[in-house]
Amino acid sequence: MAVQDVAQIVMRDMTGADIAAVADLCFEQQWPHREEDLQTLLSIGSGLVAEIDGRIVGTIMAWRFGETFATLGVVIVAVAHQGRGLGRQLASAMIERLGERTVLLNATEEGRPLYSRLGFAEIDTICQHQALAPGQTLVPLRAGERVRPMGAADAEALAALYNSATGMDRRILLETVLAEGSTVVLCHEHEQKGFAVLRRFGRGWVIGPVVAPDVTGAKALIAHWLGMQSGSFCRIDVPEASGLGTWLEDIGMPQVDRVTRMARGAAPVPGEAAKVFALAAQALG
Ligand SMILES: CC(C)(COP(=O)(O)OP(=O)(O)OC[C@H]1O[C@@H](n2cnc3c(N)ncnc32)[C@H](O)[C@@H]1OP(=O)(O)O)[C@@H](O)C(=O)NCCC(=O)NCCS
Repeated sequence: MAVQDVAQIVMRDMTGADIAAVADLCFEQQWPHREEDLQTLLSIGSGLVAEIDGRIVGTIMAWRFGETFATLGVVIVAVAHQGRGLGRQLASAMIERLGERTVLLNATEEGRPLYSRLGFAEIDTICQHQALAPGQTLVPLRAGERVRPMGAADAEALAALYNSATGMDRRILLETVLAEGSTVVLCHEHEQKGFAVLRRFGRGWVIGPVVAPDVTGAKALIAHWLGMQSGSFCRIDVPEASGLGTWLEDIGMPQVDRVTRMARGAAPVPGEAAKVFALAAQALG
């Protein structure tokens, strides 16, 4: 890289005033994030921007989950400035800020070489499914089970389920998505066993996070929101190992992309009670 190039780059903290420029970078990548989506992401995390001659040409965001874990996302370098070390500079600077935490992210094909060089290892694959939501899909509930709207009294139980399923302290993230979206709870007798959030994102709606004790419970929760949103554009990001892929394809929610989940440090260890069947967002892990 030419010395002159290095001298031109200014790296600084991202503020709310930068969001329109970050949205432009997303747009160039054909990513669906609206300014509102990016504002929400920034409100629960932090970001860095790289400027050349006062123009934002690179971004990165991070979210801290307790003292042990963090995720990275919205890692973009403007096409005209790629391949000159900017992505590496942004990622290295943010990783340093995150201290001793294990850092997780969902890498695009383009991002993978950069993260491998920075010490990230592949741990999973996340499949992005989206389409106009199909009509009613029947998923029979088992004896004693029901899906019902969330009430204020569920908040603690859902946070415990989400923390256990992710192996991380996800309280702040969950509070934010619960406040923004609508949530249904899977109960067995009167005990909360899982939940699914529906909220606005990008071109339509996203179903996530979805936490459930098993794949049948997850299908019941997802089918609820697809049925409610029938005909609207819906997206859902599911771990490949969730066992939901074929079912989603069969009901009319095809896979359109996939990303690689990577970790730098020891990956979180989820509990036994429930699993994550859909992510809150690719950026948030
Ligand atoms: C991924 C991205 C941020 C990388 O930014 P960048 O400034 O172009 O990357 P850098 O120039 O810093 O390169 C980083 C490292 O990856 C390597 N690299 C980059 N692209 C590569 C490729 N296609 N194949 C192999 N190695 C590659 C570089 O050689 C460099 O390694 P080095 O520092 O050891 O020489 C950028 O390509 C981008 O914005 N892509 C579109 C959005 C995206 O997919 N973001 C990632 C989301 S997870």
